[in-house]
Amino acid sequence: MQKDTVIFDLIDKELERQRHGIELIASENFTSLQVMEAMGTSLTNKYAEGYPGKRYYGGCEIVDQIEQLAIDRVKQIFNCAYANVQPHSGAQANAALMMAVLKAGDKILGLDLSMGGHLTHGSPVNFSGKLYKAFFYGVKKDTGLIDYEMLEEKARTEKPVLIICGASAYSRDIDYARIRKVADEINAFVLCDMAHPAGLIAKGLLSSPFEHCHFVTSTTHKTLRGPRGGIILMKTDFENPFGLKDPKGNVRMMSHLIDMAVFPGTQGGPLEHVIAAKAIAFGEILTDEFTSYINQVQLNAQAMAKAFVAKDYHIISGGTDNHLMLIDLRNKNITGKKAQETLDKAHITLNKNAVPFDDKSPFVTSGIRVGVPAITTRGMKEADMQTVVDLIDRILTNIDDEKNIATVKEDVKSFMNQFPLYPELK
Ligand SMILES: Cc1ncc(COP(=O)(O)O)c(C=O)c1O
Repeated sequence: MQKDTVIFDLIDKELERQRHGIELIASENFTSLQVMEAMGTSLTNKYAEGYPGKRYYGGCEIVDQIEQLAIDRVKQIFNCAYANVQPHSGAQANAALMMAVLKAGDKILGLDLSMGGHLTHGSPVNFSGKLYKAFFYGVKKDTGLIDYEMLEEKARTEKPVLIICGASAYSRDIDYARIRKVADEINAFVLCDMAHPAGLIAKGLLSSPFEHCHFVTSTTHKTLRGPRGGIILMKTDFENPFGLKDPKGNVRMMSHLIDMAVFPGTQGGPLEHVIAAKAIAFGEILTDEFTSYINQVQLNAQAMAKAFVAKDYHIISGGTDNHLMLIDLRNKNITGKKAQETLDKAHITLNKNAVPFDDKSPFVTSGIRVGVPAITTRGMKEADMQTVVDLIDRILTNIDDEKNIATVKEDVKSFMNQFPLYPELK
């Protein structure tokens, strides 16, 4: 087959884009080279429906070992009894978990998308809001912190089967014990979707959801710095509460229901090339090197928040405990959309984001979300956060000045030359 130079040229251009830019999308990161390498291997050719030792296809003796290693390593990271590493993405992990726990029409309670929640936590445009009856809690207007009283009140009045915590744009730690307390009152399950802060939770920099939440889902490509994908975890397995029995009349465990909900419930063959990359990333997370990395992520986020506040940027909740912050730009008279598009011209990449109680549409928004996992992987330290904030501020304070944008773009490029990305690649 002739080499597809059209696509490979575009791949080269994307690598150059990543090298030159300041990557501040909170959900992105740069994997190690070995994580990327694993995804471009012969494992992509293998069908392996089922689970290690229980496959529907022959020739699975090698991928069984790989998948088992991924399972064992992630269980070690989070000290938990159960792991399913097959979900193709975070959304797939949530879909499968909900399929295991809920019936169509059951009630769920999650953080409102417009307050920092995720689409899969009940949004009407997502399966979670179409299949299940979704109710929402929010954050408090004055503090930007989760409104636990509202969560408790909704839980008591609506009695959802599943309470979901975790967020896409929330910079503070979560009181899992408090959520579990009200869940126990109404016999609800608690799911923590730790997709964003998982890397910080892995190393004890934030409270652990595992003690209090029945189920934990995550993506593997954000602060965990692995390949794009999802996982489902449980601290302890337990008997399913639905009375489902196997042909011999035995009650099945929750782990069985979740495995069945992933495959054959919501997916077909697992992506063993991605599962190999997950196993490698999990191995990396178990090292001291990752501990230093994720500590630096938290330090950098705090340094960045401080630098923004010093320039009169309004950070929701006043700061951050994790790897990201949400900035309300209304006092600067700039929309999130305009900020994102203009910063993009200078190769500073982030996303517009609704802020709590936003008066603008989700396509425009009043805010931006800024995260440091990717620039920390590039090697930046606290002092560099000041430089990044200065570059952003130079754009946002002269938003229509094309000459200024061009100058900042050059400065971004020379700044990023100090932090090489994949020098092994041409
Ligand atoms: C909290 C949360 N859950 C789930 C997802 C979905 O992950 P994916 O994009 O891999 O489907 C995201 C992605 O941004 C997320 O932030």
